[in-house]
Amino acid sequence: MGSVLIVGSSCDKDQVPQESICSSEEVVSYSSSIEPLIQQHCLGCHDLGGGSGGYVFNGHDNVSVNASDMLDAMNANGLQLMPQNGPLNDSLITLFELWICQGKLNN
Ligand code: HEC
Repeated sequence: MGSVLIVGSSCDKDQVPQESICSSEEVVSYSSSIEPLIQQHCLGCHDLGGGSGGYVFNGHDNVSVNASDMLDAMNANGLQLMPQNGPLNDSLITLFELWICQGKLNN
């Protein structure tokens, strides 16, 4: 099956306790990590033409514009939990957050 790139070592509690995950030196790839994540977990309901709740997540433009809402939904942070059937694995949420704080690259 597809390989999901997990960025490790952001939870090292011994060092840099206050630094956010943004300090990771791994650069998250949109095309090999973020796009497959969205495809697998979100596009079933947020695809072109039938975006649930009016949200469509096809392509980098749509994802980057909606990224903070998407992250809030993944964390049920003031928005409905997404995906609806249960939260994503923490490592995937961290990966998405890292991609945001690295500037939502289209790489
Ligand atoms: C099984 C279908 C389904 C999947 C999978 C799904 N969503 Fe949704 N999503 C919905 C529906 C339906 C709504 C509209 C809910 C409503 O308005 O009551 C929605 C609404 C949202 C909203 C707006 C929430 C709010 O409180 O206003 C966001 C943001 C969102 N989805 C992001 C995501 C993300 C990110 C993923 C993937 C991690 C995802 N969704 C996966 C069905 C889904």
